[in-house]
Amino acid sequence: MGSGIAETVAAAGHDVRVHEPLAQARAPSLARIVASTERALTAGKLDSERRSALLERISYVDELTDLADRELVIEAVLEDLAVKLDVFDRLAATVSADAVLASNTSSIPIAALAAAIPAPERMLGLHFFSPAPVMRLVEVIPALGTSEQTLATARSFVESLGKTAVTGPDRAGFVVNMLLIPYLVGAISMFEAGFATREDIDSGMVLGCGHPMGPLTLCDFIGLDVVCAVCDSLFEEFKRADYAAPPLLRRMLAAGRLGRKSGRGFYEY
Ligand code: 3HC
Repeated sequence: MGSGIAETVAAAGHDVRVHEPLAQARAPSLARIVASTERALTAGKLDSERRSALLERISYVDELTDLADRELVIEAVLEDLAVKLDVFDRLAATVSADAVLASNTSSIPIAALAAAIPAPERMLGLHFFSPAPVMRLVEVIPALGTSEQTLATARSFVESLGKTAVTGPDRAGFVVNMLLIPYLVGAISMFEAGFATREDIDSGMVLGCGHPMGPLTLCDFIGLDVVCAVCDSLFEEFKRADYAAPPLLRRMLAAGRLGRKSGRGFYEY
């Protein structure tokens, strides 16, 4: 997601700095951006001059302190509260007090992140959808203490990306995942119960309902660990059975089948 967000923001003409602490993760991140912009070039969405300018606007930095002059920072680290709190703690001590701090989390309360930093009114959620350069929505999630000014800055930033901002509640699932997850859970449960093959479930929704991908392909695309984390946060908050992660999903995670990124999920890659 970090790479996709960096590409999206650079495509809109903003100067982007990416802090990736793992040296071995930087080259694959840049390779994803190069490949994605190549697709955009081939499809006529970018010309080669704009593509070069886009790539030049992105730089990778070693230290979090290299983000000191940023006006807006979007965190896209793994969905682990302790890791995110550590990042925001260090970020708050690095950037200026009026910089907007945003999280791309899909499962952690924004209020829990905001409570951990000084000046929590500058914190909110900016939830991008995968693939970020293509999907046209960003959910903007104010926490209880987010200021009107932060919200307005974030909404105009989203508009500058050519995307539509939907303001959602700081509740598990926001707007989209609250609707999407029961659908994905339903498809996994249907497959687990042997009602239909993976291909028939997916073809049903692609051909019958015009979805770009069937639900099991979409789970693999999102990542089964992410799907499970969102299920857990929704279930924890609302205790509704249609949010509960099916046993098969947990067994697939235990077996290391995370979807596309690990080479195997409901399908093999
Ligand atoms: N920049 C700009 N445009 C780009 C691009 C780039 N880097 N790369 C591709 N595009 C354009 C293409 O030109 C094409 O445009 P067109 O429709 O005008 O022809 C369009 O994007 C689709 O790209 P591709 O042709 O490369 O790919 P496909 O047609 O195979 O579509 C897909 C791939 C976009 C992934 C599609 O299958 C899809 O939309 N799937 C559903 C994805 C989805 O539901 N995402 C949300 C997941 S939920 C989530 O993220 C939330 C989390 O919290 C769980």
